[in-house]
Amino acid sequence: MRIGYIVGSLSSTSINRKLARAFVALAPEGIELVELNYKELPVYSPDVDGDYPQAALDWKSSIESVDGIIILTPEYLRSIPGALKNAIDWASRPWGTNSFNGKPVAIAGASMGAIGTAAAQQHLRAVLGHLNAPTLGQPEVFLQYRADAWDAEGALVDEQTTALLQGFLAAVVTHVDRYATVAA
Ligand SMILES: Cc1cc2nc3c(=O)[nH]c(=O)nc-3n(C[C@H](O)[C@H](O)[C@H](O)COP(=O)(O)O)c2cc1C
Repeated sequence: MRIGYIVGSLSSTSINRKLARAFVALAPEGIELVELNYKELPVYSPDVDGDYPQAALDWKSSIESVDGIIILTPEYLRSIPGALKNAIDWASRPWGTNSFNGKPVAIAGASMGAIGTAAAQQHLRAVLGHLNAPTLGQPEVFLQYRADAWDAEGALVDEQTTALLQGFLAAVVTHVDRYATVAA
């Protein structure tokens, strides 16, 4: 099973990228986690629907090539970052070629604030619902970043958080497998 992950932050010091690295380190045997990269995408405009740029075609193909997707989103202004929304906009078009259609997705996120991206994740669920991407309901990962949960190399060292992420990954695999079975 190949599961893509999308880091919704372009920050070089992103805590959501740290979270992604923890997921990669904890991936169960037989599960490959691959990053889906959108940082070369320009700002979307419908003007190019008839002549999609190569970067956007590659982005759509990368989504379509994986069995399921985990989105690690920061919370910006109680919603998702504009760059992540822009990437999803590209994937949804041109009309009739929505790359998220039927794709099983799971959401997690880390923030500095106490609600741990809960508001952003609710917005993202609404977007994914519209795109017909079945989204894992439970468990939820609303991580409030604590520096002491990570070592100097950026590896997760907190046992409780590790157990939370392992449980989440197990649920993601079941979720992706269920939709793969339905689609077959
Ligand atoms: C434009 C902007 C808006 C933000 N809005 C929120 C917010 O609504 N809720 C929150 O908990 N943190 C907010 N933050 C703080 C982020 O949680 C923090 O920057 C976090 O490190 C972002 O994740 P990243 O490190 O993966 O980029 C905001 C940060 C920025 C730059």
